[in-house]
Amino acid sequence: LFESVELAPRDPILGLNEQYNADTRAGKVNLGVGVYYDDQGRLPLLQAVRKAEMARIEAAAARGYLPIEGIPGYNKAAQTLLFGQGSELLASGRVLTAQSLGGTGALKIGADFLKQLLPESKVVISDPSWENHRALFERAGFTVDTYPYYDAESHGLNFSGMLQSLQALPPQTIVLFHACCHNPTGVDPTFEQWQQIVEVVKAKNLVPFLDIAYQGFGDGLEEDASVVRLFAQHDLTMLISSSFSKSFSLYGERVGALTLVSSSKEESTRVLSQLKRVIRTNYSNPPTHGGTVVSTILNTPELYTLWTEELAGMRDRIRAMRTQLVQKLKDHGIQQDFDFVLKQRGMFSYSGLTAAQVDRLRDEYGVYAVSSGRICVAALNSGNLDHVAASIAKVLA
Ligand code: LMR
Repeated sequence: LFESVELAPRDPILGLNEQYNADTRAGKVNLGVGVYYDDQGRLPLLQAVRKAEMARIEAAAARGYLPIEGIPGYNKAAQTLLFGQGSELLASGRVLTAQSLGGTGALKIGADFLKQLLPESKVVISDPSWENHRALFERAGFTVDTYPYYDAESHGLNFSGMLQSLQALPPQTIVLFHACCHNPTGVDPTFEQWQQIVEVVKAKNLVPFLDIAYQGFGDGLEEDASVVRLFAQHDLTMLISSSFSKSFSLYGERVGALTLVSSSKEESTRVLSQLKRVIRTNYSNPPTHGGTVVSTILNTPELYTLWTEELAGMRDRIRAMRTQLVQKLKDHGIQQDFDFVLKQRGMFSYSGLTAAQVDRLRDEYGVYAVSSGRICVAALNSGNLDHVAASIAKVLA
């Protein structure tokens, strides 16, 4: 049966973890996967999470099946994070949410559902995009193309290329956008540019799928949701995949949500009934623990406040690392201008390093980055910064 099965390549991001874990060198640094570490290089367990977990253990709750679409309070809170307290859209009943297995799970159930609705449509993703976007939509049966996004020369956005490309798409093309903190580049359109993008999406009858995996890591929870709210203001029907892996430091709990905005309350009921079939035939219903923890935090005012403070702490530390990295690169004699790192948002920096330089960083200096040149700034700390900057200086020399 399995004789003809070929060896698959390592995953471009998670495969790096395997290599990193097998590396026995002291002083190795993992800037590959998008994970936030504190200044001591530890994966944090947030205080808000700890408190919610303690409460859960105290309550000694039994572990029955959740509803197919997950915990109602979780889904409602996920919607509020996206659309804000007192949102008219939420009051209208046009929004429906299903708890998902991380952001990836949200994308996958969304993709499977879309394939039923729009079997002939193509999906377009930004060039570049998160490595798993293409693979995930292709697995769901779609042809995946790209739209121009990153401009290597300016280390910024190729906005005119992006807009022109979107304008030329056939109606009902599914367009994947990163709602904030673009992965891998860290380059986001300005709000004014987003306004133009939304106009095109609406005029051309495109289907927006907004991926928001880093809400709270850009400028703040509310600020980072502004693009989602802008799309909603234009009365668009759309899909949104949320991830709480990073914002709650709950990577292994697979906490995410798929939110759909439909045209009416009645339509939402029908849509949810179909989405539940997609979920049921994939994994039946979501797990309880992570969802309960997130739901408890989002629905308990003191824990919510604590969480937002902890999230702000992570955001501020990443910013500080950006500043210090740029300074350290200068200290190590790099002539090239790296100030673009300061403008990028979220966990990542598209460093401009080539695949060959990334290989040298890993092989000669034990510094792991994604072959595209993406580095996870959230994994830098005062202990490894100098080594990273010195190593980058050497491969650039
Ligand atoms: C990343 O881009 O590194 C993260 O989203 C983790 C992942 O699953 O790839």
